[in-house]
Amino acid sequence: MAKLGRFITFEGGEGTGKSTQAKRLQAKLAQRNIPSILTREPGGSPGAEEIRSLLLQGNPGRWEPLTEALLFYAARADHTDRTIKPALVAGKWVICDRYSDSSYAYQGGGRGLNRETVRRIEAIAIGDFKPELTLILDQDPEIGLARVASRTHKETRFEEFDIEFHRRMRKSFLDIARRAPDRCAVIDANQDVDAVEEAVFQLLKTRLRIK
Ligand code: TYD
Repeated sequence: MAKLGRFITFEGGEGTGKSTQAKRLQAKLAQRNIPSILTREPGGSPGAEEIRSLLLQGNPGRWEPLTEALLFYAARADHTDRTIKPALVAGKWVICDRYSDSSYAYQGGGRGLNRETVRRIEAIAIGDFKPELTLILDQDPEIGLARVASRTHKETRFEEFDIEFHRRMRKSFLDIARRAPDRCAVIDANQDVDAVEEAVFQLLKTRLRIK
């Protein structure tokens, strides 16, 4: 059987630079002739991209936390079955900008949905499927929110929640890292972009043993 690809996720708050780092990591893998795909959530498959606009546009109060979690996991189930797993089976590495930990941090920590409720929805949607390595970019949310405020885009629903929401969400990510230290690593996102890239790559070397 062909060798399976490996599944790596980036997580963190608003404006922590995940997308830039995900792109840089893909370029580094390409230099080593490692085939990969770069994908994101919510989205990453045609159906999940349609659900994305329901989630990211409109008022912060548009959905109750439970409905919101169900929508995120509906998108995630489609993305996992139709994009992520087929790529891994084809031997490609998958780099994903946000995955299930974002639901624990945003719908759980941020919006106050019970952790056990998130876990049960997760179990139905994706079973025990998990990334092999999760890189959590950590930063004071005031800095990240200031960074995204200067962008011009229309998908701002979560940016509009108050600062306390973002502080709870950051705490949840740190809690996730404490609960799953073998899978997760926390990286200080206050460093410059090159230093974060280097920290990411060091982790790939030690955790996934790439050269
Ligand atoms: P996006 O524009 O992709 O922002 P970012 O660059 O910060 O990832 O928007 C994704 C938003 O959706 C972001 O605010 C986090 C939120 N989100 C959740 O609340 N729960 C989830 O499970 C996921 C995947 C994202």
